[in-house]
Amino acid sequence: MIEVGIEKIGFYTPEQYVSMEDLADARGIDPNKFLIGIGQAEMAVPTIDMDIVAMAANACEQIIDEADKQLIDQVIFATESSFDYSKAGATYLHGMLGIQPFAKVFEIKQACYGGTAGIQMACDYVRLRPNRKVLVVMSDISKYGLNTGGEPTQGAGAVAVLVSAEPKVLAIDLESTSLSFQSFDFWRPQYSKVALVEGHYSTELYLDLFEHVVQEVQAQRPNIWEQIDALYFHLPFTKMGKKALDRLLAKGLLDEERYASLLAHYESSAKLGRRVGNIYTGSLYLSFLSGLVYDQKLQAGDHVGLFSYGSGAVGEFLTGTLHEGAFTQAIRDKTLQQFEQRQAISVATYEEIYQDTLPETGVWQNESSSQQPKGYYLAEIDKHRRRYGYN
Ligand code: CAA
Repeated sequence: MIEVGIEKIGFYTPEQYVSMEDLADARGIDPNKFLIGIGQAEMAVPTIDMDIVAMAANACEQIIDEADKQLIDQVIFATESSFDYSKAGATYLHGMLGIQPFAKVFEIKQACYGGTAGIQMACDYVRLRPNRKVLVVMSDISKYGLNTGGEPTQGAGAVAVLVSAEPKVLAIDLESTSLSFQSFDFWRPQYSKVALVEGHYSTELYLDLFEHVVQEVQAQRPNIWEQIDALYFHLPFTKMGKKALDRLLAKGLLDEERYASLLAHYESSAKLGRRVGNIYTGSLYLSFLSGLVYDQKLQAGDHVGLFSYGSGAVGEFLTGTLHEGAFTQAIRDKTLQQFEQRQAISVATYEEIYQDTLPETGVWQNESSSQQPKGYYLAEIDKHRRRYGYN
């Protein structure tokens, strides 16, 4: 069968962050709760002009070239922080990026799982049309509210992947294992600006779905399970991945030696998430990217597993094989550059940015002319129509 999967991967996170030590101090909490207990060191903070479309365009810009633009048949936008109930984020991207006109563009939603659904659809499309490509973009702003239990697990960012029959980064296997379960662990009704969450229940449900999915993989595809060198997780906060590995060990689904090896890989895969926070749909793929950047033990030909989790709830376990393109200097440089350019802000500034809202009059002009973010940003709203600028 033809190999399909990720040909290119790009990432964007906003230019400001707040340190979790500062946040803990401001909230009167022992910083080790955030740094160790939750596993977060920094949290990305998007200004009002860095919305999900601008972040997505900035992630895409890093990976697609003129030749790709002619070959992309679909732009799939996965998000759970959409600002429009009707118009898909992908419609903006199609225009901003100059994708060929005969493409189709749409948005997908299923909490943090949406991106994986998009990637799987893209793989199936390309399996049938190996000369064409699909752009899948995951972009989200995670908001729980100031001074809430979820606050240290906020974040913002976008991951873009180009899916094709030249999977230079990761060839994705046809078979995968999914599991769904109707639940209210995390959701956001239309009238709420922030997510509603049953924090501890959501964590337990994630672990339960992971455990059951792994049991099913072990039962149905034992050879595949045994081959896996590294596992990547959706990381709403980085401790979650460790909890997941601990669960497998506790249930006897892993032996000590394999646990130690997977834990070492997980630690590399958590490094970027630790500095960004939860980016919902893109979070699993940020963990994957972090592994590519930091994991010295990985090499082309290694088999990897990816656990995608979306509250509400869906879990899916994908597997694939790393290719040479996963280890290019360009991936590392482009990713790490983002962090070199970031600026630390105080908790007071974070709170101001957090409370900044766009007017519902449908008219807004970006007046922060000297401080506009680099790359794409929201420039104005006119008659309720968002327009983007480029810096
Ligand atoms: N030093 C070291 N560790 C400390 C500590 C200290 N001083 N104080 C506390 N801790 C540890 C605790 O022991 C605990 O560790 P374990 O989880 O290993 O037991 C950890 O810090 C967190 O402490 P609490 O459970 O008391 O924290 P909390 O009640 O404030 O809630 C949370 C934590 C539930 C994750 C909350 O931040 C939350 O609701 N987050 C949003 C929901 C979420 O991310 N859910 C994840 C699964 S759902 C999903 O994956 C979809 C999605 O993206 C949202």
